Amino acid sequence: MTSPVVARTRAELATALTATRSRGGRVALVPTMGALHRGHAALVSTARASVAADDAVAVSVFVNPLQFGAGEDLDRYPRTFDSDLAVCAERGADVVFAPLLEEVYPGGDPQVTVEPGPLGSLLEGATRPGHYRGVLTVVAKLFGLVRPDLAVFGQKDYQQLVLIRRMVEDLCMGVDVVGAETVREPSGLALSSRNAYLDPGQLRAAAVLSRALGAGAAAGPDGREAVLGAAHAVLQEQPDVELDYLTLTSPELGDPPSSGDARLLVAARVGTTRLIDNVAVHLGRRGS
Ligand code: PAJ
Repeated sequence: MTSPVVARTRAELATALTATRSRGGRVALVPTMGALHRGHAALVSTARASVAADDAVAVSVFVNPLQFGAGEDLDRYPRTFDSDLAVCAERGADVVFAPLLEEVYPGGDPQVTVEPGPLGSLLEGATRPGHYRGVLTVVAKLFGLVRPDLAVFGQKDYQQLVLIRRMVEDLCMGVDVVGAETVREPSGLALSSRNAYLDPGQLRAAAVLSRALGAGAAAGPDGREAVLGAAHAVLQEQPDVELDYLTLTSPELGDPPSSGDARLLVAARVGTTRLIDNVAVHLGRRGS
């Protein structure tokens, strides 16, 4: 296990990728904000497995202020660089790009940003105005800096994944976007850096979200109403979890079909911590 090259500047990043590029090799990118857990680690493994052994896997670690709203957790966002580096080494990353703020935004906030369009103000976008503009802008910048052939994102942040796919398609960015499965605790709780804010009781309570999604998915053959009914019934068991939304959509976040592939998404507050999760649902015709 060799330690990845740590690149702090654009120049160091370019140097770290020169050998791969000059022999026509591919580059896979895993964008993160650090505080890496097993969910992020799985993305690095997916990236590693998606390219050849002598291709390059780069992980970016950058807490992007542009995607945090006022009153969100930018200042207390966990920063654990040494253990992040160890995770990247263990999962076979070649380069860790960990730039300072000035390196990414040399002129302060950028004048030109990526407008997410209508999908950006739904669901998470409804409570976090400007969030997806910040996400898409930094991802576009990271794509510009790293120029990856493929990039891996988690299905955990499903709306983000859908928006990134849209951006790549609408702006002809030529990056293959790979969506990796959500990694969970044994309780079913989706791993998230924000789980660190939960006490043991809240962690137990939060597991209701994945149980509700599981119950919803299991009711898929009975149709849309049954899916939402089954999920709501489970959520009601846990009054400490304050529901923000439970929504059934098409895989692209449009209206759900009456049968076929759909997505069930949930957001809720546990104490002051907002959690999100989602699951694929296959809708049958029985109850529709
Ligand atoms: P961050 O929250 O650090 O997440 C980085 C990547 O890890 C995202 O693609 C996210 O979906 C994925 N991820 C998080 N938890 C996961 C889990 N339990 N299982 C699988 N994948 C998981 O998402 C961001 O950073 C930022 O918005 C970013 C895209 C880096 C832009 O700043």
